[in-house]
Amino acid sequence: MLTISKELEQELQQKIQSNSGVIPKTLLDSLMAKFDIEIKQLLQSLLPIAARFSIAPISNFNVGAIAYSSDSECAYIGSNLEFNHAALCLVVHAEQSAINTAWLNGETHISHIAITDAPCGHCRQFINEVKLSEQIEILLPNTNTSLSELLPHSFGPADLGNETRLLDVSAPKTTVPKLPISSELLKHYHASYAPYSGNKSAVEIVTAQHGNFYGRCAENVAYNPSLSPLQSALSQMALSGLSLDKVEVVEITLVETEQYKNQSGVADVVLESFTGKYEIKKAYVS
Ligand code: THU
Ligand code: ZN
Repeated sequence: MLTISKELEQELQQKIQSNSGVIPKTLLDSLMAKFDIEIKQLLQSLLPIAARFSIAPISNFNVGAIAYSSDSECAYIGSNLEFNHAALCLVVHAEQSAINTAWLNGETHISHIAITDAPCGHCRQFINEVKLSEQIEILLPNTNTSLSELLPHSFGPADLGNETRLLDVSAPKTTVPKLPISSELLKHYHASYAPYSGNKSAVEIVTAQHGNFYGRCAENVAYNPSLSPLQSALSQMALSGLSLDKVEVVEITLVETEQYKNQSGVADVVLESFTGKYEIKKAYVS
């Protein structure tokens, strides 16, 4: 595998973090030309950079993942994110983070996922929720495989009668309810994926100097591997080289569906794991 020099690695890390974890086609093209390699090899060579975004105070085990679309020819970085003094089930896995980056940045297709280590069962199940997941190629350090090979006889969205998949494009909502939230947050609320609980939800983190970060819930047919909107937003922050405790936070808002609300408690627990005290504003769509 190609070894990238420390200088170039740092330069690429800067570029990726200023782009919230997205690696545009132009950058991938220039790197493929520079090193005379094809995309799969390049994705695997970039994994150490993805792993640098990992925040793992509990395990000290840094995982990096990169999702790639052969349609848009863009790549999306992911890394694991652990919360100190919060239940282990709240950890965001690198593969979830990479898919989250792709989804939040408007990607509608994933053809490859490169990972520093073999994906755990929870991640295999999370990937299984993605549109056309049976065609996704998984690139591991010593072998290339497919999700069908890693997760045979699987339990999938259709088993609960769900015909939609994560990364499907949902029709934009034309009715805009009057709410004390930004139009961008409402857009993320509508784009969230909640086919099982019905509780569409999204989070906005407004910072003083680093712009706004958004997250959406991504439910899973097996329920437990689901991602909450705050985990999703914090993962995006980590890929920008930031963490709640390192920036001045102006406001955090959670919006969810009045009738089905289920995200408030988990958001409070995740926020309590940080040393700073953060109030979360809660808004409801009815
Ligand atoms: N981890 C991942 O990010 N992906 C996997 O599939 C394996 C495990 C992370 C989760 C946790 O932060 C650490 O590795 C130890 O399990
Ligand atoms: Zn995993």
